[in-house]
Amino acid sequence: MQSHSPLIMSDKVLNMLNNKGSFVSGQEISTSLGITRAAVWKKIQGLRNRGFVIDAAPSKGYRFISAPELAKDYLLAGVSGSLWKELLVHTSVESTNDLAMSLAVGGGIAPGTVLIADQQTKGKGRLGRKWASPGGMNIYMSLVIRPELAPGDITMLTILAAVAGASALRLVCNIPVEIKWPNDLTFSDKKLGGILIEVRADPDRINLAVIGVGINVNMAARDFPEEIRGAAVSLMQVTGKRQSRNDIIIRLLTEFERWYGLLITEGKRPLLDAWRKYSSTLGRRVMVALGETSISGIAEDIDDNGMLVLKTQSGQQRKISAGDISLC
Ligand code: BTN
Repeated sequence: MQSHSPLIMSDKVLNMLNNKGSFVSGQEISTSLGITRAAVWKKIQGLRNRGFVIDAAPSKGYRFISAPELAKDYLLAGVSGSLWKELLVHTSVESTNDLAMSLAVGGGIAPGTVLIADQQTKGKGRLGRKWASPGGMNIYMSLVIRPELAPGDITMLTILAAVAGASALRLVCNIPVEIKWPNDLTFSDKKLGGILIEVRADPDRINLAVIGVGINVNMAARDFPEEIRGAAVSLMQVTGKRQSRNDIIIRLLTEFERWYGLLITEGKRPLLDAWRKYSSTLGRRVMVALGETSISGIAEDIDDNGMLVLKTQSGQQRKISAGDISLC
């Protein structure tokens, strides 16, 4: 897989090693990149100093073993396609969504940028909640796009992000991740991840969308704030082993682009069907909090706009556009 981004030389060396998965001779790298064998060795040392593990065998050459977590060049090299053009990795930010939105509004970053942080000090959840964001273990990232969607179709971004997230986690971790309406990523009804979408739109077009994705990757029970310990879970807890944030990010960006492409070329149907397939909500009795009141009913479907179709106890159909539901 080639990145469409301009690769610097150590990225190119990395790309060659990474693409093959087996030994690549120093001579092959040197010929292919037009640099000396000594320069190849220097690049390899540079990568090793940054935490890349690269095997070297005298008659075989070099073999890629692993990359440090959240290494920008490794992530970029792993993402194919043309949607993602730039990737920024920060050690700590208040909120990747806030930073991405303010940079994008000010023209500091362009659509197609992905902003990732190892830690957030003011991570935001939906409905004004906080998002626990300790360093060194999870994924906090914001995808900036200018979607080719009418403002009325903005809920499709919610559906799209949830489907891309669930399918990426299923592929990388091999577990049946589900979607709780509208876009919580869950395992056995416990929350693995969440999505927070913020947009800037005119009446007739969406100018900018920031899609914030938070995934609990390698948290142990003690890392969760006490008040959410019973309701949240991490991929490490579910699978019994640490998971690679790099692999998940690469797969998530790839799945997002794939589903986005399908939405543009084939319309909403494939995406809505995938959402239904992954849904933990449909067919179940749910309680919807609507400000001061709440209604309960059976979640029958989502409509073409991503609204939840509820059959209430009195047999009426109600459509819910936003809010929070509890599964009964
Ligand atoms: C939810 O409440 O389910 C949505 C959580 C979204 C959290 C992510 S983490 C990256 C991005 N930056 C934020 O401040 N929030 C989102």
